[in-house]
Amino acid sequence: MPAFSFSAPGKSILFGEHAVVYGFPAIAVPLSSISLKVTIQPLPVDNKIIIDNQDLHEELNLDTITKDNPYKHSIETIRDYLKIDHLPSMRIIISSKIPIGSGLGSSAAYSVAISTAITAFLGFKLNLEKINELAYEIEKFQHGNPSGIDNTVVTFKRPIYFRKNYAPEQIKIIEPMELIVADTGIKALTKDVVTQVKTKIEREPDQFTEIFQKIAGVTNIARQDIEMNNQHEVGKLMLENHYLLQQLGVSIPELDKLVDIAVKEGAYGAKLCGSGKGGNIVALIPPEKAEKIKSSLLNAGAVFCLSSTIEKRKKIN
Ligand code: MEV
Repeated sequence: MPAFSFSAPGKSILFGEHAVVYGFPAIAVPLSSISLKVTIQPLPVDNKIIIDNQDLHEELNLDTITKDNPYKHSIETIRDYLKIDHLPSMRIIISSKIPIGSGLGSSAAYSVAISTAITAFLGFKLNLEKINELAYEIEKFQHGNPSGIDNTVVTFKRPIYFRKNYAPEQIKIIEPMELIVADTGIKALTKDVVTQVKTKIEREPDQFTEIFQKIAGVTNIARQDIEMNNQHEVGKLMLENHYLLQQLGVSIPELDKLVDIAVKEGAYGAKLCGSGKGGNIVALIPPEKAEKIKSSLLNAGAVFCLSSTIEKRKKIN
């Protein structure tokens, strides 16, 4: 069997995080400037699967790790999905430029990349829908109750309008959109933040349903404005979404500060992205302001900033 490599991008949620877990719509985009790569190499020995995490300089033997280990779980999920009893010996090499625990889709990129790489290495030809289905199974272990938006945008590598249990719809981009993503450096696990929100909803269902409905309204208008390239309007809606996420209790002062600075320096709008309580903000910006906005965000304490362009693409293919 020849070696096989696959890279999956990061992602950012532009509208609708958290609400999407409860069936409301959300909009997500791939971040092609950061990615996670999985390479599978055949091993000339029997019964051995080695996981080689190059970022952590860690080598693990699948046989000696416990069942609750996410690597083990993902590999066994793939094996069960393919309905095969035995996997051949292989070295699984993982390297990533996507920060962990910061809402940029590192676990979704892992789920998609490992699903694609192992199935292709074994000679299975899975289409994107199947890869997405498999990646979602892997994501459930990491996140408990994921909406599926992260693995879907990473699988299809397109801006999407997403609702749980519906086919994703591609968003038409008629002019490039320039984003800056800036990291507070504060780690927060999606699973924990989603659980905190769930507890609040159980206590005050009416109040939180109303916030979700408002987020859904903003998301639906934003889709139209994105498709008409009304970037000023999209920016304003991002801010509105951020204020609603504050009401949901998932923002923190560090995120609010980066949002304020991005807007003060000329972004059309900005908001936290992903689960919140840490992680990143995303700002939609006029391209000529990129350097100024980035340096102000870094001066204000962002630990890292990246630029990403949402490319113009009219047709679904
Ligand atoms: C995480 O990227 C987005 C959340 O809405 C969780 C999910 O959709 O599964 C917070």
